[in-house]
Amino acid sequence: MEKIILASNNKHKISEFRQMLNCEVLSLEDIGFNQEIIEDGKTFFENSLIKAKAVSNFLKKQGIVANVIADDSGLCVNSLGGQPGVYSARYAAEHDDKANRQKLLQQLEDKSDRSAYFVCMIVKLFSDGHYVSVEGRTYGNILTEETGDTSFGYDCLFFSDDLKKSFGQATKEEKNAVSHRGRALKKLLELKEN
Ligand code: IMP
Repeated sequence: MEKIILASNNKHKISEFRQMLNCEVLSLEDIGFNQEIIEDGKTFFENSLIKAKAVSNFLKKQGIVANVIADDSGLCVNSLGGQPGVYSARYAAEHDDKANRQKLLQQLEDKSDRSAYFVCMIVKLFSDGHYVSVEGRTYGNILTEETGDTSFGYDCLFFSDDLKKSFGQATKEEKNAVSHRGRALKKLLELKEN
């Protein structure tokens, strides 16, 4: 069975990838990677490539030959000019989901257009240095209050056009079937070279 290194320690992302990929998925913790990766790219693509390269270089130094998958994802709100976008994890405060959601609700207080979409960019970097990239999106609206499970990012504020409920109210299977990550992964798996 193929082993893939996923350039993330986010337990929600790791569990979504494990459910959707038919191979062994190892996290950064699993491979003993504990360096800080500076995600200073301006786009989801730049950030995912930065993460994939950092992990691939680490593996090379250990003499490990393995392919790396990195994703960069975020929420883009139309009336906020696409914000928080690549800053989704640190919109109000670094990795403080609750504070990030509160800031989003405040920013939208006087907006009538609450349409938004999640983006997921996945880069798969092969051990020989070449890579492929795919993007997935999912559309919806930002609710005025948290609904359902509040444990992952903006899930409880995102009312999905596809599911007609918030991602916080959806089962893992329902979310994976329509999510930005699910759609990007589906594209990756459909590539001849993946
Ligand atoms: P990343 O780890 O740099 O890709 O940051 C992604 C951030 O976007 C997360 O910390 C969440 O705030 C948000 N995000 C991305 N995907 C999802 C999702 O599926 N549900 C909820 N929030 C998400």
